[in-house]
Amino acid sequence: MSRDPDHFAWHALPDGGAAVRWPASGNVPPGELAAGVRDWLAAGVRYAQVFLPLPATPPTDALRAAGFRPLTTLELHRRPVAPADAGAAPPSGLALLPFDRLDPHLVGRTLARTYVGSLDGPELNALRLPDAPWDHVPGGLALLAFRGPDPVGALVLDASDDGTLLELAYLGVVPEARRGGVATGLLGFALAHAALSARRAVLLSVDARNAPAKALYGRSGFARYERRAVWWWVNDRFP
Ligand SMILES: CC(C)(COP(=O)(O)OP(=O)(O)OC[C@H]1O[C@@H](n2cnc3c(N)ncnc32)[C@H](O)[C@@H]1OP(=O)(O)O)[C@@H](O)C(=O)NCCC(=O)NCCS
Repeated sequence: MSRDPDHFAWHALPDGGAAVRWPASGNVPPGELAAGVRDWLAAGVRYAQVFLPLPATPPTDALRAAGFRPLTTLELHRRPVAPADAGAAPPSGLALLPFDRLDPHLVGRTLARTYVGSLDGPELNALRLPDAPWDHVPGGLALLAFRGPDPVGALVLDASDDGTLLELAYLGVVPEARRGGVATGLLGFALAHAALSARRAVLLSVDARNAPAKALYGRSGFARYERRAVWWWVNDRFP
């Protein structure tokens, strides 16, 4: 990926998608976008998403011409970390184990089960490669939560480059364990980890349609600070 933050660039994700960086200026020359799409087709990329800051008007015509369609609105939420967060009780009845100490198929299957019925970009679920490994970021923490022998949820945390922030990259619970406090426990763990590693705040992003997750985050003190329009491109060679 190009290092210029104001440059259109992309990299392949393990789930078969592409992460796209849209320049802050909002402008991508049409030829550059078309070349990106040609690269995705050649590389067998299944889908690509772009995240466009709001309320600036998205470059709708250029995106439509390249085959993109509007998908949803993403909300960015933030919660300052307080010293008291360090004392949060460990998640009750849950054991947390890192992905890299577990059978990768168990991790992949559990992640896939947490996507069932999800309101967070559900359109992407059918496109993702099954059993895809997580795109691990150095300095992060990727954990499965077990209740007894059963995996019931997943939590992925990424540290910012300068170590001052913690990003909650993913939180999901398998359908049969929902409404049982698993996510609340994992969120408490994330906040305690943030406090103990001297982070200033925890950040996360959530699909604006995901009312259950927004209720969970609101209850834990997260507040929205930004919105992005999400547009997606789908490779129609994959049904
Ligand atoms: C959102 C999700 C993580 C919640 O997990 P959970 O373990 O069921 O959450 P908890 O049991 O800890 O619920 C805590 C609170 O969140 C809110 N909440 C959770 N699920 C809700 C639902 N379906 N509808 C409304 N509020 C809900 C409630 O305020 C709940 O408290 P209550 O049960 O006392 O009313 C889970 O539904 C899930 O994995 N969904 C699919 C993946 C996903 O959307 N992840 C979030 C990505 S940003």
